[in-house]
Amino acid sequence: MENKTIDWKNLGFSYVKADYNFIAHFKNGVWDEGSLTEDDKITISQGSTCLHYGQQCFEGLKAYSHKDGTVCMFRPDQNAKRLNQSCKRVMMPEVSEEFFVESCKKVVRANKRFVPPYGSGATLYLRPYVIGVGDNIGVCPAKEYIFGIFVMPVGPYFKGGMSPVNFITSDYDRAAPNGTGAVKVGGNYAGSMLPHELAAKEGFADCIYLDPATHTKIEEVGAANFFGITEDNKFVTPKSPSILPSITRRSLVYIAENYLDMKVEERDVYIDNLSEFKEAGACGTAAVISPIGSITHKGKKHTFYSETEVGEVTKKLYDTLIGIQNGDVEGPKGWIEKIL
Ligand code: PLP
Ligand code: COI
Repeated sequence: MENKTIDWKNLGFSYVKADYNFIAHFKNGVWDEGSLTEDDKITISQGSTCLHYGQQCFEGLKAYSHKDGTVCMFRPDQNAKRLNQSCKRVMMPEVSEEFFVESCKKVVRANKRFVPPYGSGATLYLRPYVIGVGDNIGVCPAKEYIFGIFVMPVGPYFKGGMSPVNFITSDYDRAAPNGTGAVKVGGNYAGSMLPHELAAKEGFADCIYLDPATHTKIEEVGAANFFGITEDNKFVTPKSPSILPSITRRSLVYIAENYLDMKVEERDVYIDNLSEFKEAGACGTAAVISPIGSITHKGKKHTFYSETEVGEVTKKLYDTLIGIQNGDVEGPKGWIEKIL
């Protein structure tokens, strides 16, 4: 049955109930095969380690409708790998790459009528997660786990999509130097809600975190990585052990080098040297690419290309990335996983 009630073009990044989600259980040392569920609620013990000690992690990826009617995912193998890095860091059982990808495909197929049409700008967002459950109380890994995939159609994460957003640096840190910043665990996000709220109250889209040891270098945005374009057209992105290794950023690095013939530097980006960039952006699955209009640091506002217009290089990166994701531009081998 077609879905005529959703206004695809005006979807934001908020919850819309789809037909099915996916749930698998880990008990006695093994994962079961999992199943689709129509109910979007789960019942877990009050002793679940995810509730008390944050023993959990998650991922985010999207399914896209192509012009020819096929439905595809973008690099789900990379999400599987990162999920497993997160699982290892918080002592949860890994989910095999094959099980991860096949389960994603299964839940997308079941939600076919919720996959937004080609050209609408919206996508079907998949939120895989692993949580520690069962009757526990001590600070130690749970014996039982749930691997779920929560699904919904979404529009742009930052309001306005591909129009520039303004950020402010935060005095808070999202991660410790040797903490959990490089994995996708919920605790990193709980701690980012207050800094985000403070930034939003001042009219900013989000905040930029600086490196936790010296507060002199850009780390990332609350839900996206940072990149800058230098006057001589280099793609520069921060190198740090405490930022989340973004799959979108890794893809943009490849696109910059191989499609746009640009040089790439992964290195320190000093907050006092923003004038080295003519353009800047935030990138991630949810954010796609959001051009950064300005960054305010210690009361001083630095404007990049423009607060209202998108720079030429950022536009090319965006067009190539979404071109590949939407099936209009030939992507590198293995980037597009066909589902339907
Ligand atoms: N940084 C953080 C903190 C994120 O939550 C995300 C989103 O997943 C990203 C960066 C972007 O990563 P990806 O491009 O893999 O979605
Ligand atoms: C994503 O981009 O998929 C994310 O997980 C970011 C998010 C916290 C909204």
